[in-house]
Amino acid sequence: MKFAARMDRLGTESAFEVLAQARRLEAEGRSVIHLEIGEPDFGTPENIIEAAHQAMLSGATHYTPAAGVPRVREAVAREMTRRGGVEVRPSQVVVVPGTKNILHFALLALIEPGDEVILPDPGYPVYRSLVDFVGAAARPVAINEDADFRMDLDEVERTITAKTRMIIINSPQNPTGGVLTEADLDRLAELALRHDLWVVSDEIYSEICFQELPRPIWSRPGLAERTIVMDGLSKTYAMCGWRLGYGVMPEALAERMTTLLINTSACAAAFTQLAAIEALESPQSRVAVDAMVAAFKGRRDVLVEGLNQIPGFRCHLPAAAFYAFPNVTETGIPSRELAGRLLNEAGVAAVAGDAFGAHGQGHLRFAYTVSEQQIGEAVERISAFVRSAAPAPVGSR
Ligand SMILES: Cc1ncc(COP(=O)(O)O)c(C=O)c1O
Repeated sequence: MKFAARMDRLGTESAFEVLAQARRLEAEGRSVIHLEIGEPDFGTPENIIEAAHQAMLSGATHYTPAAGVPRVREAVAREMTRRGGVEVRPSQVVVVPGTKNILHFALLALIEPGDEVILPDPGYPVYRSLVDFVGAAARPVAINEDADFRMDLDEVERTITAKTRMIIINSPQNPTGGVLTEADLDRLAELALRHDLWVVSDEIYSEICFQELPRPIWSRPGLAERTIVMDGLSKTYAMCGWRLGYGVMPEALAERMTTLLINTSACAAAFTQLAAIEALESPQSRVAVDAMVAAFKGRRDVLVEGLNQIPGFRCHLPAAAFYAFPNVTETGIPSRELAGRLLNEAGVAAVAGDAFGAHGQGHLRFAYTVSEQQIGEAVERISAFVRSAAPAPVGSR
């Protein structure tokens, strides 16, 4: 079958491939602890499920305006106004069936083939994949392990050319859990203004954070006019399967994005949109989110402490999200091989760091989206494996 050339440029999310492999092993009767998929294991809070149910019963089963039900856009605008401390208008909000649509549409609307787009490395693989897909030139910039997994802003500055049109930032970050500081965001804002860049700010993990976050980049003067915020319900409210994302952007771009939506999905599911109001505004949802974040923090501590006891593993304490990204170079086993062997020989599913970009090499990503007890068991399995497979730490190799 002959496919369009652009299909060869489309990447994938390795976590889903690892999950498929893990499921095959389980079908053969093997036990696998799942630390590969970036999806909260909690159920969606019941009040949100009830809101969707009621919405369906009340007839929210039809198409909605493409950019979203007005009341939902208003709720998102209120939430974002709270976050940024600057006014966000509902007309700046576009509701989509999944946050990644916002990036895809922004690239389609703003980027010409050959334009350069700066993105984090390691970073969420969909950034690179979509940038390549639209024919732009991806310019990966290192996320610096020695600087608390923050983007290397000197490298950002060196990477900007006359062709650079956009920079994608992600704080808190997948796969490292790193967080940009207030000073980082000030500097990025200054660079974006000086070089006339669009900023895509992926804030999907901003509510899953174990410390206070600085004000988002778009709250700085002149930045709301050039920023596209990506966010959604998937992670914060354990709603990955509901497919509800949203973007905040300048109104003129929101209108163009709405046209893209009309031509693709038409709209996000009506009852899912109405449940978003409950998610964003009900105090009950806040209680549920706080409980989930507290659980993630407990799991993070157990996992990171455990990983740091394993010979050859060095794990930085992530400030946010639900990922640990240990450096495993000292085991002497390349990270891709290590991930494969941990799955097949130890029954622990993780993603090799280089699945997130070349700078991820020598790392593994563990999603702590299972119970503390399972995390403890996973650490024991990894430890036993590493001690038998690589008896002495081999930093010299
Ligand atoms: C950094 C980042 N952005 C966006 C997404 C996609 O979210 P959604 O489920 O809303 O498409 C993910 C999901 O893993 C993510 O890790």
